[in-house]
Amino acid sequence: MSDVQQINSGDANGIGVRQGSKMAAGMTRRDLLASGGAIMGGAVFGAEAFAQQPADTLATKQTWPGRTFGDGLLKGKVAVITGAARGIGRSIAVDMAANGADIVGLDICAKITPEQAYAVANKEDLDETGRLVKQHGRQFMEVVGDVRDIAFLRATAAQVQQRFGHIDIVVANAATQRFKPLIEMEDWEWNDVINNNLNGTANTIRAFAPALVKNGGGRIIVLSSMQGKHGSKNMASYSASKWGIIGLMKSAALELGKDKITVNALIPGLVDTPLTHNEARWSALIGEVTANENPPKNPTEQEAYDTRAPHVPLKVGWLKPEDLAPAAVFLASDLAAMVTGATYDVTGGDNANNQS
Ligand SMILES: NC(=O)c1ccc[n+]([C@@H]2O[C@H](COP(=O)([O-])OP(=O)(O)OC[C@H]3O[C@@H](n4cnc5c(N)ncnc54)[C@H](O)[C@@H]3O)[C@@H](O)[C@H]2O)c1
Repeated sequence: MSDVQQINSGDANGIGVRQGSKMAAGMTRRDLLASGGAIMGGAVFGAEAFAQQPADTLATKQTWPGRTFGDGLLKGKVAVITGAARGIGRSIAVDMAANGADIVGLDICAKITPEQAYAVANKEDLDETGRLVKQHGRQFMEVVGDVRDIAFLRATAAQVQQRFGHIDIVVANAATQRFKPLIEMEDWEWNDVINNNLNGTANTIRAFAPALVKNGGGRIIVLSSMQGKHGSKNMASYSASKWGIIGLMKSAALELGKDKITVNALIPGLVDTPLTHNEARWSALIGEVTANENPPKNPTEQEAYDTRAPHVPLKVGWLKPEDLAPAAVFLASDLAAMVTGATYDVTGGDNANNQS
């Protein structure tokens, strides 16, 4: 655990302090805030969380060890996370484990559509998520399968109940995307994205929510996108699926509130994961920020980062997957008991340019 960033709670003021850092030297709440840290109730989110992230090739070398927020925020909880083999799903799994949760990591570990234009996740990726989870002393149940198959999801829910006795948190994260002008799309290209992202997310809620009801409450977090809040050129099916997920989330929040289940959407901005780590996406984002109808077809990663960063309020070309995980831990925790039907944006500031 030596490489795990850990925030311990309990100094004289009831504020958590980071061992071995200058924050541990008798800081007051005011000192901590002045240094860039933030206090939420008794939990302290350290100044490092606000540090600038360099542009590097994270997507292919994701070794995030996880970090703790406060004292066992998710202690004793069981979290089911779809799309857990890598990217944002892996970061959420590892940070939830670091905060005390046992993890059920589900992933297809194979091609999602016949012509997938970016790297395919495999079983080794999911194994690696399991290894990182277990480093925190938590259990990892590995499940390989497809969120489009609701019978499989229901059988998985029964297996999880049998093994752990309860399910507390569900993160519907699995998704895909395709680039194609709307009028050039084949029928299957439209249907695949809608089916995978929107139906897959609905299936996940429909399959696992009954266990949460039985358990007397719980947390559901769905992954939407900034592209679920504005249109996206050549990505209409993705954008439509992500808008649909927000409608789904709000409807589920209305229905499940009486069962003490909160349902919220995490809204990432652009994040460096295998989903977006490709020349087509980099070319599109250069076109978006420069209003260039013909952006370079094969830009380098650094070119894309440098072109975009000045247009983002926090001056980053994109976020890292681990930037998203703290918000998921918060939404899954008791601290967020009164948050439901909400969208929670983690975008580097992209949403400051957006009305929603
Ligand atoms: N990366 C971004 O910039 C970004 C921005 C906004 C929203 N998001 C959303 O965040 C979530 C995670 O994306 P990511 O960037 O980590 O992508 P990713 O491709 O790195 O990871 C997604 C994982 O989901 C799995 N998956 C996809 N379809 C599946 C299915 N039918 N059944 C089971 N597993 C399936 C994949 O195998 C993969 O391991 C997605 O919902 C995505 O739409 C990402």
